[in-house]
Amino acid sequence: MAKPKSVYVCQQCGYEAAKWAGKCSACGEWNALVEEVRQKNSAKAKGSPSSTGRAGYGAAGGGEPVPMSSVAMEAGDRLLAENEELDRVLGGGFVAGGVVLLGGDPGIGKSTLSLQVAGMLACRGLKVLYVSGEESLGQLKMRGERLHVDVSDVLVVGETSLERVEALVQKHSPDLLVVDSIQTMATEELTSSPGSVAQLREVTGSITQLGKGLGMPTILIGHVTKEGAIAGPKVLEHMVDTVLYFEGQAGMNYRILRAVKNRYGSTNEIGVFEMRGDGLNAVENPSAMFLAERPVGAPGSVVVPIVEGTRPLLVEVQALVSATKFGPPRVTAVGMDQNRVLLLLNILEKRAGLKITDHDVFINVAGGVKVAEPAADLGVALAMASSFKNRPLPQDTVCFGEMGLTGEVRAVSRAAGRLMEAQKLGFRRAIAPRSNTAGVETFLEGNEEALSELRYEGVRDLGQALRAAKLIDSA
Ligand code: TYD
Ligand code: MG
Repeated sequence: MAKPKSVYVCQQCGYEAAKWAGKCSACGEWNALVEEVRQKNSAKAKGSPSSTGRAGYGAAGGGEPVPMSSVAMEAGDRLLAENEELDRVLGGGFVAGGVVLLGGDPGIGKSTLSLQVAGMLACRGLKVLYVSGEESLGQLKMRGERLHVDVSDVLVVGETSLERVEALVQKHSPDLLVVDSIQTMATEELTSSPGSVAQLREVTGSITQLGKGLGMPTILIGHVTKEGAIAGPKVLEHMVDTVLYFEGQAGMNYRILRAVKNRYGSTNEIGVFEMRGDGLNAVENPSAMFLAERPVGAPGSVVVPIVEGTRPLLVEVQALVSATKFGPPRVTAVGMDQNRVLLLLNILEKRAGLKITDHDVFINVAGGVKVAEPAADLGVALAMASSFKNRPLPQDTVCFGEMGLTGEVRAVSRAAGRLMEAQKLGFRRAIAPRSNTAGVETFLEGNEEALSELRYEGVRDLGQALRAAKLIDSA
């Protein structure tokens, strides 16, 4: 068996060195040399493309080009995780041979979710192999006991060697493989420590190849870490089919699962979970949860229906506007783009005449939700105006709409869905783009009752919106 040979390749210029060095001697870039395998024993090289540095790509090489029409469709049968939130984020369950990278901070619930899914599938008689490189089997069992699913039929193994995991998969041919975590796995062919970029690439490439070959879906768990000795899953994103991130806020029990890449579905979907004593539970009504602690009748608080993926969600936007005590005025935004807030602030001053730009402004989307949609513009503007004027908005009101630079309120997508969600949560009035009215009416045609409890107030510009919200007096 030939001894595998490592070379250190500069990730900037491609220079190859025989030894690792802090600085590339060709281009002078620091910390750019990464170990790569150049030669593998021949038996291994057959199944793995990574010896040529093309790790992780699922296509088989060596074929002739064919017309697209004659290509057989993949991804026909999906394996449902029987977990509504996860299945939605995946785009309808696992795809045969698909590799899902589940990333997130330590302690966020990656192992918990994976074990729950494993248990769920095992209960349906499927074979799930859970490879734990992090926790001992005893710890895993203790965790399993707490969960509300039965995990007794899940096959578990404590293992950190890629080669042995490959052998186990060949032997048992499971319906789903879980690797917890990718950072603990290492191939014997590289001398670098587990978790290094070279190991991560090599291991992910080999497992991807294995899964594709067997048509077996795989969950790879990866920790997100600050730059340092242990590389985060970022370097793996291009190698896998689906990248999910688990987000949450310290001290809060709910978690948001978000797809940032998905070859088999939309990337806009989110799943909302609550971490309880018996593991992660789907949150059926996230809007109600995000609004649970809303201060009713407080200035600066506005409820905005946003759309995440296919799902409307009500969130509370809070603004605090106070006269600057010293220095230049500051804008601080949590859960939303700061520049967008600055823009809205200036629109408020220029188009509605509020002398607001010499104030410090703080924006917070309650509950740690991140809002990226322009549809939240009008809500944020009204929240700032409300805090500035120290006048609350009518408490049964929601608002949404995109703001243009001339102060016009522009139409947004899925207006009817937003309104329905608002009505469902007991809101009775919506301040929203006039230009959406026609669309909403068409949507409701023949079913006008659906929105009978909610009054739609279409506004064309910021001035009308401020009047509708009773933040400036009608002329
Ligand atoms: P875990 O899944 O181990 O996180 P990760 O694998 O992402 O590092 O989650 C651990 C946290 O979840 C831990 O702080 C305890 C908490 N937890 C519960 O609150 N309830 C439960 O049923 C379980 C299993 C964990
Ligand atoms: Mg874990």
